[in-house]
Amino acid sequence: MAEELSIIVPVLNEAKNLSILVDRLSDALDKDQIDWEVIFVDDDSQDKRRSTLLQLANKNPRVRFLSRIGRQGLSSAAIEGMLSSSAQHLAVMDGDLQHDEALLPKMLAELNREDLDIVVGSRFAEGASLGEFSSRREKVSNLGNWLARLTIKTELKDPLSGFFMVKRQSFEPTVYNLSGTGFKILVDILASSPRPLKVKELGFTFGKRIHGESKIDSLVAIEFLTLLAEKWIEHLVPVRFLFFAAVGGLGVFIHLAILTLLFKTLAWPFYTAQAVATLLTMAINFSLNNVLTYRDRRLSGAGYIKGLLSFYLVCSVGALANFQFAEFLFNESIHWILAGLAGAIVGAVWNYAMTSTFTWAKKKRHQS
Ligand code: GDD
Ligand code: MN
Repeated sequence: MAEELSIIVPVLNEAKNLSILVDRLSDALDKDQIDWEVIFVDDDSQDKRRSTLLQLANKNPRVRFLSRIGRQGLSSAAIEGMLSSSAQHLAVMDGDLQHDEALLPKMLAELNREDLDIVVGSRFAEGASLGEFSSRREKVSNLGNWLARLTIKTELKDPLSGFFMVKRQSFEPTVYNLSGTGFKILVDILASSPRPLKVKELGFTFGKRIHGESKIDSLVAIEFLTLLAEKWIEHLVPVRFLFFAAVGGLGVFIHLAILTLLFKTLAWPFYTAQAVATLLTMAINFSLNNVLTYRDRRLSGAGYIKGLLSFYLVCSVGALANFQFAEFLFNESIHWILAGLAGAIVGAVWNYAMTSTFTWAKKKRHQS
């Protein structure tokens, strides 16, 4: 049967803190007869840490863990932990003992009593204290909070908190929109929900780190801005298009290399050399896109040949559109570099739009 509460704890180099945290969780939750489990999501799964986790899990059926090999990221760790749980309530907290586990039963009680989606452990709400939070960190936090509030449209004193509890039914509708970038999982959830979530903040004292060190560095700021940008522009430029454009850019060099070989070294007539180089380059681009850009929709066998033919067709039309548009701009006395570039962009967008719909069409789920 599903647990009442899963506590997801992302950990990176926290071996010394793990068993202390499990003991503290037992102290805080067992007396209220809460049916809980803790899920550690570990991104530093070297043998030693894996064995610490294995031992803990073997000893205590309330302990589960997920080892992510060769991957990192606090948000994505929290998300995958949440996705691995079937509990009705999902809490996320740090594994370094800085978050006060005594708040968990109160959070659960609030969620059960009131019509709420999320209860947040807040460093700034009533009853909160920053403990020994440095004043520099406090300033950075304030700036981040202010930026975050622009994105999430929910009144919240501490949207950057890494300590919260959410109802499963409120979390579920967000899962396909989550960005998973960076540190700020709460902002991600609030910004990804199709409706504004009802939030309550409970103050707590931010504890002091005893073992290990903080993993927050300047990169985190960049990741945070990326997350906000993703939420603001809503994937204006899909990453897939960037891959497609990069492959196209590489194609220019491949084309020139083949042309040099055929025309200069083998002394073929120029037109034949240019034609063969074009056809070959397109085939190579097709294969690269098939492996890189559309690796999730990869074509093979007869599908590969069909795909290649449709790629030729679409890209020929794209080249035509490119020439026409560039020529038009050039005749309007636009600078030749701009005209050429604009033509190439029109061609690339056409090729991308068309090949993503026809050449690498999304597979239907049930194919007969
Ligand atoms: N799995 C995994 N992967 N865990 C990570 C990673 C990662 O890439 N990076 C950090 N962690 C774990 C740490 O081991 C720790 O358990 C927890 O995430 C928080 O990391 P800290 O490095 O201790 O962060 P902090 O104390 O500076 O910041 C915390 O408090 C802030 C204010 O509430 C975090 O919770 C922030 O999200 C939060 O904004
Ligand atoms: Mn910490």
